[in-house]
Amino acid sequence: MAQQLESTPALLEYVARSSLREDDIARRLRAQTAGLPAAQALQVTPEQGQFLALLVALSGAARVLDIGTFTGYSALSMARALPAHGRLVTCDISEKWPGIGAPFWREAQVAGRIEVRIGDARETLAKLRAEEGPAAFDFAFIDADKAGYPAYYEAALDLLRPGGLIVLDNTLFFGRVVDPAAQDADTVAVRELNAALLDDDRIDLSMLPVADGITLARKKSGESRPSGQERR
Ligand SMILES: C[S@@+](CC[C@H](N)C(=O)[O-])C[C@H]1O[C@@H](n2cnc3c(N)ncnc32)[C@H](O)[C@@H]1O
Repeated sequence: MAQQLESTPALLEYVARSSLREDDIARRLRAQTAGLPAAQALQVTPEQGQFLALLVALSGAARVLDIGTFTGYSALSMARALPAHGRLVTCDISEKWPGIGAPFWREAQVAGRIEVRIGDARETLAKLRAEEGPAAFDFAFIDADKAGYPAYYEAALDLLRPGGLIVLDNTLFFGRVVDPAAQDADTVAVRELNAALLDDDRIDLSMLPVADGITLARKKSGESRPSGQERR
């Protein structure tokens, strides 16, 4: 049986050459973002963007939540995979970054599907819950500050319909999750959420050792709760 391959630069280049279909608009958004500080660590890879688009299309999602806009590459990728009546709410604490993505969304003719909400994502998600009630979304991508992941996961799970999909980025967090010396708030939050997801019987779960770690959590139908916790 084949084992997990170690990725090498040559293999990653082969994967891109064999499967990446990034178009000119997305490529230019990435090029524009590349000049910003820490852009490479923040922006999803084009392969991830394509994967997110595939998941949105595959799941038939029409209402998507994008937590952590930055310059809008994930928003662009997912919005393009939506049906014409689809809607994507993307949130960021800074209005500076989504402002860079907006012209590219317009050029791709998906700006009408994208709604930007500025503020702490905890507050944005609470407002969405108050405005739209539970189960208002089909799909959520979590990619904001890592210390907020446990809160974003709970809020997203509540905002998702049964059968909806949550995708979490950076769940291996630069490999720090397996470094006992890494005890910073971000690493601890990711590590704790990963452990909690394993025992969470409200979801079907898959963790992919791709890019910086991508976790898929599908909200199950019916009543359920995290194992060992009180029913709320
Ligand atoms: C990893 S980047 C998102 C990358 C984006 N998904 C993309 O495709 O390029 C994380 C973003 O989360 C934002 N952020 C950080 N803390 C936040 C918070 N408390 N609430 C909302 N957004 C936050 C940052 O401003 C940053 O733009």
